[in-house]
Amino acid sequence: MKKFYITTPIYYVNANPHIGHAYTQVAVDALARFHRMIGDDVFFLTGTDEHGEKIEEASLAAGFAKGKEKDFVDTIVLNFKRVWSELGITHDGFIRTTDERHKKTVQELLMRMKTNGDIYEGEYNGFFCTPCETFWTDTQAEGEKCPDCKRPVARLKEKNYFLKMSNYQDWLIDHINTHPDFIKPDFRKNEVLGFLREKLNDLCISRSKERMAWGIELPFDKNYVIYVWMDALINYVSAVWEKDKLEKYWPADVHVIAKDILRHHAVYWPIMLKSAGLPLPKSVFAHGWWKMGDEKISKSRGNAVDPVALKDKYGIDPLRYFLIKAVKLGYDGVFSEDALVLMYNSDLANDLGNMLSRTLTMVEKYFSGIAPELTPADGSETQKKLSAELNEKTAGLLASVRVKIGSEDFLLKEAIDEVMALVAKANKYIEVSAPWTSAKAGDIGSVKLMTADILEVLMVAAMGLYPFIPGTCAKIWAQLGLAGTIDGEVGKKVFMWYKWRAFPAGTRVAKGEMLFPRIKSGA
Ligand code: MSP
Repeated sequence: MKKFYITTPIYYVNANPHIGHAYTQVAVDALARFHRMIGDDVFFLTGTDEHGEKIEEASLAAGFAKGKEKDFVDTIVLNFKRVWSELGITHDGFIRTTDERHKKTVQELLMRMKTNGDIYEGEYNGFFCTPCETFWTDTQAEGEKCPDCKRPVARLKEKNYFLKMSNYQDWLIDHINTHPDFIKPDFRKNEVLGFLREKLNDLCISRSKERMAWGIELPFDKNYVIYVWMDALINYVSAVWEKDKLEKYWPADVHVIAKDILRHHAVYWPIMLKSAGLPLPKSVFAHGWWKMGDEKISKSRGNAVDPVALKDKYGIDPLRYFLIKAVKLGYDGVFSEDALVLMYNSDLANDLGNMLSRTLTMVEKYFSGIAPELTPADGSETQKKLSAELNEKTAGLLASVRVKIGSEDFLLKEAIDEVMALVAKANKYIEVSAPWTSAKAGDIGSVKLMTADILEVLMVAAMGLYPFIPGTCAKIWAQLGLAGTIDGEVGKKVFMWYKWRAFPAGTRVAKGEMLFPRIKSGA
């Protein structure tokens, strides 16, 4: 059994999750479900980033007294857990940076870096951006604005500890060049290599407790807490910091993040690991941003979209489907509820939902609800020709979906597009076949052939879409009357080994509720 360790960022608990966070969760959930289907031993980790100045400020703003930050984060973390469960997210681990085990691991790793001679004491004189929890030099923070989020930065002058980043600069450049999958997509790798052309500044890794005490204490100086990004990045190993788990799962196969935190993951994190004597993750995949117009969606910009409200209105799967299909992973997308409704009606209601219900109606009408058994004599010559074409497209679909989702480039949208192209083709096949005319003319053999073919397509399409819209696909599986469950042994076998005409003749279908009732625009 191959292991597959996949992570999301751990989210700041200064506010509730929005659609941007939900996007990462859904993409990673689809990947985790896919890897379970192909038989991998998956560990899918998510969690929350609970220390630092930003959280301290949010806690105070929410009316919690200084020193009571833990009570504050304890309330917000519940919202994250609830929202992920409402969106059908199947993480195997949920880490909080306030967990005792995490704190111990962070301190242990910091000690190792210190022992290796990579941590020194110096004076920090520069800027700090609290919303980004990032240090900036005078030249970087031109005009006293954060170069990333453009918000004002604060001057910080204090004694601090630093990690010698420059010790590892050449090694890191070499690692990136010799490991083509380390930074994905490829154009992001060039961005990081561009950044590494300039000499790296040493990283300030502490905050004086006098100014900001909400963090993990530095193990070699109790006047300081550890810089929140150092604390946060270590979650990926502290979550598996037990002998068997560490050996089994580390290094992670992929950290999925958004592009704004690529430098932290592709520069700071590998250097921290190298300094602490741990192997590097195999890959860091940076996806793009969901925007409103030109602006990134975020709580602080006041344009956050609530994923739960959308789920309550349209259902989990339409939301998941839209998030993945609307944008190629790696690129930005502009959010619009109208676009979601359009996609719902055309793809899910018209194409997929309708194909299921009309096919099951035919099985009931012409074959008393039982998938027909074919004989070589069934179907006119024209019908047989049409059938052969569909057979060709259907037979190779799941192999192609496996290649796409399983590739280092995570071709999720492309996998959905390919399944939906087959669904569209199958709907055309029904139109062209005109089974009602064949039936009237007494050619029941052609109706049989067409019906068997479409049942086959429905089974294959449900399998191909399962990682993205699992609830819907489980319903299709049940309505088709198939044995077992779509994500159980039976389904997994089909997913891996599908061959044309696998749909068992004689199966009693079970037509049920309409999957996607049409939505009137503007509803
Ligand atoms: N706490 C840090 C991450 C530490 S990881 C060791 C952090 N937290 S965050 O709450 O700001 O969440 C950042 C992540 O949320 C992004 O990397 C991305 O996965 C997701 N997104 C937040 N806003 C987003 C969009 N508007 N669009 C797409 N993804 C977004 O940074």
